[in-house]
Amino acid sequence: MKIISSPLELKNYLRETSKAMSTQNDFSIGFVPTMGALHGGHISLIKKAKEQNKLVVVSIFLNPTQFLKGEDLDKYPKKDEADKKICELSGVDILFFPQAEDIYGIDEVSILAPKVRGYVLEGQSRPGHFNGVLTVVMKLLNIVNPTRAYFGKKDAQQLNLISLMVKQLFMSVEIVPVDTVREKDGLALSSRNAYLIPKEREEALKISSSLRKASAMVSKGELNAKEIITSMIEILEPLEIHYVEIVSRDFNQLLHVELGNSVILVEASVGGTRLLDNIWL
Ligand code: PAJ
Repeated sequence: MKIISSPLELKNYLRETSKAMSTQNDFSIGFVPTMGALHGGHISLIKKAKEQNKLVVVSIFLNPTQFLKGEDLDKYPKKDEADKKICELSGVDILFFPQAEDIYGIDEVSILAPKVRGYVLEGQSRPGHFNGVLTVVMKLLNIVNPTRAYFGKKDAQQLNLISLMVKQLFMSVEIVPVDTVREKDGLALSSRNAYLIPKEREEALKISSSLRKASAMVSKGELNAKEIITSMIEILEPLEIHYVEIVSRDFNQLLHVELGNSVILVEASVGGTRLLDNIWL
């Protein structure tokens, strides 16, 4: 595995490699952007990228611009050596490991999230967060110029906004959504789970239970959003709930679940740790 920290070096290396491989007409680059502290969710993105591409690039970059003042940027888990090992063992070809100064200068151009869809749900809890996400993803996609880029459905709003950016800015990368990986007991894997003490981890299970309850209600024919959300809130009540919402795949609020076009989203804090989860119905 090659480790590169300079954007220009990576760009040149990939340009040369693509040129050398251009006789193979199925040459493709799969890209998995991450902020490190890698877990099974990230590994499933890498696996999918390996299945579908000749060359796989993973980036580890703790992007400062997507953290709001007072958020957990300084205490975000850092596991550089373990992450490198995971990438190596997962068959990653190139690990892009830049520093903040490699990615950002001063007085910069940036991408603005859409005024409505970028400021509801997580965007309402964290105003401006998605400007930082879209700007860094745009930069990373321009550096790597991948055929396909892989994003988790767990961060459904992020996935939606990145897909929107790629479409609206006429970019040519294919965005590939990947299913959420969970622990056996239902907890969605997240780098932030490392903050949870055992008692909080137990409490956090209420999030996936509430989604299972919603799914069971829908299976029995209950499609009314208000009824479903009320039942979910009963389960979630002891937690600090930020939102429970049912939206369409393009993130418009729904009053009734539309099978094949709905996402039920939860964001709640447990002992100060913000956790997201959702199911796609
Ligand atoms: P990070 O939280 O490290 O997540 C990197 C990718 O892994 C994202 O696409 C995320 O949706 C996916 N992921 C996280 N947990 C997952 C799980 N349990 N199952 C499946 N996929 C999961 O998301 C970010 O980083 C950043 O915002 C980033 C896109 C890298 C931009 O800085």
